[in-house]
Amino acid sequence: MDSKTRRDWICTKKNYSLVVLALCLLQHYLHVSIILVEATSEVHIVYLGEKKNDDPASTKKFHHQMLTTLLGSKEAAYRSIIYSYKHGFSGFAARLTESQAEAIAAAEFPGVVQVIRNRIHKLHTTRSWDFIGIHQHSSGNLLTKSMGKGTIIGLIDSGVWPESKSFNDEGMDPIPTHWKGICQQGEHFNSTNCNRKIIGARWFRKGAIEHFKNLNRTNTVVDFRSPRDGIGHGTHTASTAAGYFVKRANYRGLASGLARGGAPLAHLAIYKACWAFEGCTDADLLKAFDKAIHDGVDILSLSVGNVTPLFSYVDQRDSIAIGSFHATTKGITVVCSAGNDGPISQTIVNTAPWLITVAATTIDRVFPTAITLGNNHTLWGQSIDIEKHKHGFVGIIYSERIALDRTNDSAKDCQPGSLNATLASGKIVLCFSKSDQQDIESASNTVQEAGGVGLIFAQFPNDGLASCDIPCIRVGYEVGTQILSYIRKARFPIAKLSDPKTVIGKWASPRVASFSARGPSSMTPEVLKPDIAAPGVDIIAAFRPRDTKHSNGYALLSGTSMACPHVAGIAALIKSAHPNWSPSAIKSALVTTGNFPDWNRWNKHFSRRPNPQGS
Ligand SMILES: *[C@@H]1O[C@H](CO)[C@@H](O)[C@H](O)[C@H]1NC(C)=O
Ligand SMILES: *[C@@H]1O[C@H](CO)[C@@H](O)[C@H](O)[C@H]1NC(C)=O
Ligand SMILES: *[C@@H]1O[C@H](CO)[C@@H](O)[C@H](O)[C@H]1NC(C)=O
Ligand SMILES: *[C@@H]1O[C@H](CO)[C@@H](O)[C@H](O)[C@H]1NC(C)=O
Repeated sequence: MDSKTRRDWICTKKNYSLVVLALCLLQHYLHVSIILVEATSEVHIVYLGEKKNDDPASTKKFHHQMLTTLLGSKEAAYRSIIYSYKHGFSGFAARLTESQAEAIAAAEFPGVVQVIRNRIHKLHTTRSWDFIGIHQHSSGNLLTKSMGKGTIIGLIDSGVWPESKSFNDEGMDPIPTHWKGICQQGEHFNSTNCNRKIIGARWFRKGAIEHFKNLNRTNTVVDFRSPRDGIGHGTHTASTAAGYFVKRANYRGLASGLARGGAPLAHLAIYKACWAFEGCTDADLLKAFDKAIHDGVDILSLSVGNVTPLFSYVDQRDSIAIGSFHATTKGITVVCSAGNDGPISQTIVNTAPWLITVAATTIDRVFPTAITLGNNHTLWGQSIDIEKHKHGFVGIIYSERIALDRTNDSAKDCQPGSLNATLASGKIVLCFSKSDQQDIESASNTVQEAGGVGLIFAQFPNDGLASCDIPCIRVGYEVGTQILSYIRKARFPIAKLSDPKTVIGKWASPRVASFSARGPSSMTPEVLKPDIAAPGVDIIAAFRPRDTKHSNGYALLSGTSMACPHVAGIAALIKSAHPNWSPSAIKSALVTTGNFPDWNRWNKHFSRRPNPQGS
């Protein structure tokens, strides 16, 4: 890469040496041809169905032979192949041109079920990557006696932050004898990062690298080339599924209690196939499935998915459907998130019948936050920004009145760069979201850049809170309108923002979250989906400690991503109590018992809150 760049640089300079000119011409030619090769050959997955041979080495050899026949030489086959899938099923991922992919899909290569182009899937957390450190508040009795003992939950996600207290292994049983996995090392991750809680970890990156080879990656988010979680998502989902007990967890005294995952005595196996910048590619996801099946996990949790239009699981074009199918036939229960494109119907993804597809619900915990106006009226919104609300009364102003450009309405919902900094400076700004697309974090950045000290964001009903760098409070449209009429009437409108409080059990819940993707499946509406719903709004769990200011390694996130590992944890409890139950039996136990194992107690344990939209 470096040397290529340097040569380009030499060649673009005016350099009249004949030798250099000749080199440059050659380079020019080579460069063009390289680009041609890269542009026309892409990673494809050649899926061959059930493996015909129990010996992985023979299966791999068969893949190489097939590619050699296609590409004409052994060397070309070795250069082209990136993965051989040989444990749970048979197939391989290789760089192929369109015509090569067509040839291999055609009848001349028997046994090929489907050729799939490598695509990107995304993690199913919406709203906020941001976080605040309030530890999970829970008390009372333990859910069941087994607590997932002896089971292994595999997470195909963005990795793990192994130092989190949630992955402490004191009190954990020895590693189950059926475990065949490894603790793969890499950047800031080695065998010492695995223990009796995190019993294995692997990472899969080749598909992502290939997919993004030609992209200019100036905005790459830092991620670790190892199972270490550069985002926080995988840490959150893993600790939700099987985090160990964290005693006296609290955040600045705000919440104090025992934090725990769904199956605190279950073991964790980490498969990092999702990357901060690249997302998760089919090739990497399938490799994760293949290894997880080999390693001996009991449950697989995937908070990952495509967006609609769906790729067909019926004719095997959907990698998650393929991987989960083979996992299920080997006795592994696979739990997936339903996606976050709700509340519109037919947005649900991961709809293969053998999967457990999980929707997200609210919980009975809210974070009411007082807004006191200059006329002494107090109105209520919601916020999760603790100890940021330090200002007393300051000026409050409506964003549209301080628009830089009055010819459009970009200031109304505080779009980037829309506010006049002279007028916003030192004030609380009130903005109205036009739809639920504009998010509060982006609006708060706009206000902060204009020198504002707080944001009140009026929004249509929408679940899931986010933390901002300046105090940001979400209100419903009704409250927003009341504040606006105060601003219009008052000569010098002022307001004071208070710290949020945690209030539990005052609102009806659970309720399906606004963002949770809705059925019916656009692929097969006859198959009822989602299968089950679990808490996925403002869920607190372990996170990658990012900065020292507000992080104590716990974050509050929303999404069907958060709901999925709740069900994976419960599936582990069932598996632990009934080791011989098949994935179908476990799924049946989950979906046919509305409040299994004890919804109310479970609810109290994990998380609480509905969504009063600031009222
Ligand atoms: C693993 O990493 C830890 C902490 O970075 C280090 O102290 C230890 O020597 C490493 N162990 C091996 C086997 O590389
Ligand atoms: C990458 O993008 C940056 C900024 O957009 C640009 O300056 C740079 O020349 C680009 N590099 C390549 C290799 O395209
Ligand atoms: C608001 O309340 C404070 C103290 O409670 C009082 O001093 C002040 O006069 C009140 N202001 C208005 C506008 O009612
Ligand atoms: C911002 O508002 C002030 C006061 O009305 C005005 O003088 C200034 O020109 C405005 N700034 C811009 C960039 O429009």
